[in-house]
Amino acid sequence: MRRVYMDANATTPLLPEVVEAMCPYWTEHFGNASSIHQHGQQARTAVDRARETMARFFNCHDAEVVFNSGGTEGDNTAIFGLLHPGDHFITTSIEHSAILEAAKRMARFGVETTFVTPQSSGLIDPNDILRAIRPETRLISVMLANNETGVLQPVEEIGKIAAATGAFFHIDAVQGAGKVEFDVRRFGCHLLSISAHKMHGPKGIGAMFVRKGTPVNPLLVGGSHERRQRAGTENVPSIVGLAKAAELAMHSLDDGTIYRLGKLRDRLEAGVLELAGTGVNGIDADGKPVPRAANTTNIWFDNLEGEALVIALDLKGVSVSGGSACHSGATEPSHVLMAMGLDKNRARASLRFSLLKTATEADVDHVLRVVPAAVEHLRALSPVAAGTLG
Ligand SMILES: Cc1ncc(COP(=O)(O)O)c(C=O)c1O
Repeated sequence: MRRVYMDANATTPLLPEVVEAMCPYWTEHFGNASSIHQHGQQARTAVDRARETMARFFNCHDAEVVFNSGGTEGDNTAIFGLLHPGDHFITTSIEHSAILEAAKRMARFGVETTFVTPQSSGLIDPNDILRAIRPETRLISVMLANNETGVLQPVEEIGKIAAATGAFFHIDAVQGAGKVEFDVRRFGCHLLSISAHKMHGPKGIGAMFVRKGTPVNPLLVGGSHERRQRAGTENVPSIVGLAKAAELAMHSLDDGTIYRLGKLRDRLEAGVLELAGTGVNGIDADGKPVPRAANTTNIWFDNLEGEALVIALDLKGVSVSGGSACHSGATEPSHVLMAMGLDKNRARASLRFSLLKTATEADVDHVLRVVPAAVEHLRALSPVAAGTLG
């Protein structure tokens, strides 16, 4: 059976070039980048080169790149590393749990957080950020692209607000990496987090932009790695893989791959929307989609159970994600879709299609063949459709 993976926002496979770049650093060039001998120096050179690539990716100085374990660590570092008791923190209610849970923990240490809610389109209004500012606001954290809807937030405007008010600004750019041109100076951020596995790199590796002079307390202490900002022997193969993935991501933005991906997504979306009782999560008052990452669409389906549709599609060879998550054994509707004002049933009956940058027209054709039949079948069976669910 043909299998089509449309869950790129969960994770992506390594591109062959990435595997190839990483391989020697597990075997021949296995040295510790802190060792002064030849083996160590080979590893050091690889890390230095990777840092130069990431500096190009972010548009920053080499010394402003810190390698870490990924998005969760970057998000946690911004919050735990900058906030002190008595500080005020502003974020949004649609962030990843790596931000939301860290904010919750900081409440125990006397840091109050304001969670700004999005408009029904999924967009954060920068004026709502401005209104939330207090004299003691030390940090603002807003994501670049939402992982569920792909909606792109107005980070540049928020960066200007942060600059005008003297707050530090962190961007969780995990879902924007490789899909949107990065320029940390234009974004106006002090910190920015990315993760390799969302852009065809390995899992468990990421990087952070830390603007020179930003007083972040490291999460991990020990050796003097990463200019004392993140202790621990460098994961050289993964750092090399991240840099290769970033290099390929820059090419994909330049050579029209991401533009083509947006067109594929649009065709997929239009095809699914031909079904009655469907709509996009992430549209403005005029019914037009707001700016989104090129690979993502989030669609609601009336009169069916989202989870049942995810399973039905999986059985037909299509991998997608639903609008609910399992918390403590119970299925909860997505906090992102709920914050956008969807009712519980619609949030539960929403699906995220997120395309790999290697997606093809044939992948979209396959999904468009499978989805209508699965939806019709489930609607015929559904207690939601029959009104017997209560
Ligand atoms: C927006 C966002 N932030 C942070 C993370 C966490 O990244 P990682 O898996 O590298 O810890 C994810 C992963 O899904 C994400 O989508």
